[in-house]
Amino acid sequence: MSRPDAPDPAVVDVDKLWSIFRDGGRDLVIHQDLDLSVAPGEMLSIVGGSGSGKTVLLRQILGLQKPARGSVRVLGQPASELGSEGAASRIGMLFQHGALFSAFTVLENIAFALRELGTLPRDLIREAAMAKLQMVGLDPAQANKMPAELSGGMIKRVALARALILDPPLLLLDEPTAGLDPGSSDSFCQLLRALHQELGLTVVMVTHDLDTLFELSTRVAVVADKRIVVSGTPTQVMTHSHPFVQAFFLGARGRRASSLLPSSGQTV
Ligand SMILES: Nc1ncnc2c1ncn2[C@@H]1O[C@H](COP(=O)(O)OP(=O)(O)OP(=O)(O)O)[C@@H](O)[C@H]1O
Ligand SMILES: [Mg+2]
Repeated sequence: MSRPDAPDPAVVDVDKLWSIFRDGGRDLVIHQDLDLSVAPGEMLSIVGGSGSGKTVLLRQILGLQKPARGSVRVLGQPASELGSEGAASRIGMLFQHGALFSAFTVLENIAFALRELGTLPRDLIREAAMAKLQMVGLDPAQANKMPAELSGGMIKRVALARALILDPPLLLLDEPTAGLDPGSSDSFCQLLRALHQELGLTVVMVTHDLDTLFELSTRVAVVADKRIVVSGTPTQVMTHSHPFVQAFFLGARGRRASSLLPSSGQTV
């Protein structure tokens, strides 16, 4: 372990993972011998078709789903044995369709996991939540707002502050910029990049957004055929021959290129 040339232990270590759901009388195999290792400080983007099992993979890492076979370890411990408290202090999660608690204020949403722990007095919890509010670039004046009063970008920021309230070393993001307009999406990416650097976070992110992917990823892993078919830097992965990879990168690039053509553009 202490050898100078020894690699850092993985933050996430998925080994020969099988994820299976029962569908009526049949087994639905989502992952089959899927291997994935994430080193400290990486910002890994997971891409794959709809229904390829990206969210299920994040749920496995969170310990919400149990491997049918194989193992998922987070910081050396089986993910399914972390328990909800252990998971919250090690892993922050921004869910794909995750909404805030609509009956709670912004600050109460952010403070939620800390209050659940029941170890700190109210004023310290409030202070910690205010610090997180500012960390995600929101004004203290937003603290007492209700979620219904917030823009989409602000909701994402509050959800991020809530995910980071216990200072977890690992952050999981499921489509963090989906549904945001380009401006909000760019500024959310900048925030994620800054937090990744400043907090030394390890980040595993699912995204289908090429701009987000190129902006943030230190590595990309492609889920297809029930496993990771290729992983590497964005430019390495782009040239892989798998049909999904070709369609994803070249299709989207083609669409973007065509949007620059004068005939299809809007006048500005
Ligand atoms: N709790 C569940 N019970 C049964 N099947 C499930 C369950 N959760 C997910 N699945 C199935 O597992 C497959 C993978 O789902 P998953 O949500 O991981 O896809 P995804 O890659 O995240 O897709 P998307 O890009 O649309 O979010 C889908 O076929 C889905 O229907
Ligand atoms: Mg999903």
